[in-house]
Amino acid sequence: MSESTTSHDVLITTAFLSPGDEVDALLRGAGLTTHHEPNLAALPEAERRTLLASTRAMIAGTQPLTANDLASAPNLQIVVRTGVGYDSVDVAAATNQGVPVCITAGANRQAVAEHVFALMLGVARRVPENITNLRAGHWQQLTGRELRGATLGVLGLGSIGKAVATIAAGFGMNVIAYDPYFDEAFASAHNISRAELDEVLSRADFVTLHLFLDDSTRNLINAERLALMKNDAILVNTARGGIVDEAAVVDAVRAGVIGGAALDVFEQEPLPAESPLLHTPGILATTHVAGATREARGESGRMAADNVISVLAGGDPQFVVNPAYREDVA
Ligand SMILES: NC(=O)c1ccc[n+]([C@@H]2O[C@H](COP(=O)([O-])OP(=O)(O)OC[C@H]3O[C@@H](n4cnc5c(N)ncnc54)[C@H](O)[C@@H]3O)[C@@H](O)[C@H]2O)c1
Repeated sequence: MSESTTSHDVLITTAFLSPGDEVDALLRGAGLTTHHEPNLAALPEAERRTLLASTRAMIAGTQPLTANDLASAPNLQIVVRTGVGYDSVDVAAATNQGVPVCITAGANRQAVAEHVFALMLGVARRVPENITNLRAGHWQQLTGRELRGATLGVLGLGSIGKAVATIAAGFGMNVIAYDPYFDEAFASAHNISRAELDEVLSRADFVTLHLFLDDSTRNLINAERLALMKNDAILVNTARGGIVDEAAVVDAVRAGVIGGAALDVFEQEPLPAESPLLHTPGILATTHVAGATREARGESGRMAADNVISVLAGGDPQFVVNPAYREDVA
C-alpha cells in the first residue's frame, strides 16, 4: 500500500501508523526506508514472503506474526510491538531465530487505566442504555450506582493495574488485588489490600483484569470463577480476550450470576456482528481501544522508532521480552 513493494528496511504493520506520519519521518530521517502493510496476515503467502524477505526491522500491530512469517525474514534484527501485549507474536520462534521482540512499555498505561473508568462508569451509570433510550424517544431516568465506597478487585497489579488502583483511590474506592508477584511496597503506599484470586472475586464490586494472556491465564475467568462473584458485581476486561471464557460471561450475565460486564478485548477480533456479547443486556463492548489515545499512540510510535533506529545502527534493543534471543540462535 505504500512506498516500495520489494525492498525496505522497516516493515510497519501497526494500523495507526501511516506513510508520512511522525514515525515514518523519524525512520526516514535516520536514513531508513519504510513500508506500511496493516494487513500482513491477510496477504497471499507469496506476497507476504516477498515483503518479509528484505525486512530488517518490524514495527508490529496486534495481528499474528507467526513462525512461518519470521522464517521468511532472514534479515530481521528486531520486532517492536506498538503496545505491551505480545501474545500475537510467536516469541519462541523469534528467540530461536535470534530476534529480540520488544514492547513499548508504559506508553499506553494511562490510556488503558482511564478506559477502565470509562467502562466502569458507563456500566455503573448506565450511560449507553440511557443514550439508546433517549435516541429512541424515551425520557427515562434510570438509577445508577456510585464507585465511591465500592470495592475494586484488581487481577494483575502490574504497570496498568497500578495506574488503575491509583485512579480508584481518587474515586474513594477500596482496592484489593491479586498478583503472584505482589508488589508489597506499592500496595502499602497506596492502601491496597492483598488477597488471593478467589477472595478478590468474591469480595469485589468491580473486578478488572490486567494480566497477560498465556497458557497459564487462558480462560482464568471461567464459569466456576464467575460463580464466586457477587451477583451485582461487574467484570471489566481490557487485558486480552482469551483470559475470560466469553460464553460463560454471557451465561453468567443472562442468569444474573454477575451484574454485568464491560469488555474491550475479545477472543476473536474484530468481534463478529452476531456475537452474543453485542446482544446481551448488561454487557458493554468496545473495539480494543483502551490504549488508543493520541498521547499513547504518539509515545508508542516514537518509542518503537527510536528502538529500531538504535538497533539497526548496532545498538542494544530496549524493553526486550525474550532476553534469551542472544543465546538461542539456532
Ligand atoms: N486493551 C488494550 O488496548 C490494551 C493496551 C495495553 C495493554 N493491554 C493488556 O494489558 C495487560 C497488562 O499489561 P501491563 O503493562 O500492566 O503488564 P505488566 O507485565 O506490567 O503486568 C502484568 C501483571 O500481571 C501479573 N500476573 C501474571 N500472572 C498472573 C495471574 N495468573 N493472576 C494475576 N496476576 C498475574 C504479573 O505478575 C504482572 O504484575 C496485558 O495483557 C496487555 O496485553 C491491553
